[in-house]
Amino acid sequence: MPYPGVNDDFPSPIRLAESQIGGTRVLAVAMVRAFPPRRHHVNASLRLPSPPRLLSAGATFWFVTATLGQLAFVVFIAAFFGGALATGDLAGLNAKPHVTGYVPGDIVGNTQFLGHAVLAGLVTFAGLWQLVPALRRRWPAVHRWNGRLFLGVALVVTLTGFWLVWVRGSRLGTGSDLSISLNGLLILCFAVLAWRSALRRDVATHRRHALRAWLLVNGVWFLRIGIMLAGLVLTPLGIKIDYQGATFILVSVGSWVVPLAVLELYFRAERSPHAWVKTAMGTALGLLAFATLAGSLAAAAFMWWPVL
Ligand code: HEM
Repeated sequence: MPYPGVNDDFPSPIRLAESQIGGTRVLAVAMVRAFPPRRHHVNASLRLPSPPRLLSAGATFWFVTATLGQLAFVVFIAAFFGGALATGDLAGLNAKPHVTGYVPGDIVGNTQFLGHAVLAGLVTFAGLWQLVPALRRRWPAVHRWNGRLFLGVALVVTLTGFWLVWVRGSRLGTGSDLSISLNGLLILCFAVLAWRSALRRDVATHRRHALRAWLLVNGVWFLRIGIMLAGLVLTPLGIKIDYQGATFILVSVGSWVVPLAVLELYFRAERSPHAWVKTAMGTALGLLAFATLAGSLAAAAFMWWPVL
């Protein structure tokens, strides 16, 4: 006779009981085995994920929020700079404040400025795809070509950035100019290291250098969300942020130092034999994801959307 949840080829105590003994007590024991008490299911569903899973979940959650914020940045660049290029209304670019911006007649300067900004959108977009694990696994050739595009465009954006600051003279202030230049130098270093380790097929080293290069390329995006977060905290206190002030310089330096430091801690947590290290890092990344989301939303609402 069939019982719910008991299939025929399972040496069921119910069938044993029926065929050999036939007692109520045996049947009750068999029923308990076949349908364990519900509280076991409840405990299983409340159990916390293991520390390695928590670490990976924290990293994934942060990456999802960063992706949303970076896509908003890419949409702004494509609409604002791409729109001006498409319509030919380059003077309209100055509707938004820039350091120097569009200067009528300055063909070289305008080309560098526009090229820098448009390619910045491309490198940000390409960088996001490099980190999607499914893409790496299923289409390794796309990963390789997109990687070449990312590293190549990163070099061009960085070199035009140097030109804008140190040749065109688009300066915000000594502190932040030195900070973005150091950020740029590190992009060049880690882009070359990532490229060389990829050529050697040294996947572990390549992963570390490529992630560093990716975070450094996104230094300008971190700067924008960092300024927004600082503004959210300081503006209600009546403190204004100016380009030469300590807050701006601190956020400028923090925009590439903090992400690099967090990445190094993440690498250490991955290798650590201690469960609490993985749990702490996974939790920290989860909290940083909320900060990233808040900064990105504020940048989209107050910085990018109003000028579109
Ligand atoms: C490789 C990563 C970089 C990205 C993704 C990037 C992105 C951008 C974007 C989108 C803009 C236009 C912003 C706007 O006007 O709203 C911009 C402007 C600028 N960038 Fe970069 N940048 C990068 C690296 C650099 C570096 C390394 C430097 C300097 C060493 C630099 C210097 C500048 C300057 C001076 C401007 C302002 C130009 C002006 O307003 O006249 N950038 N960047």
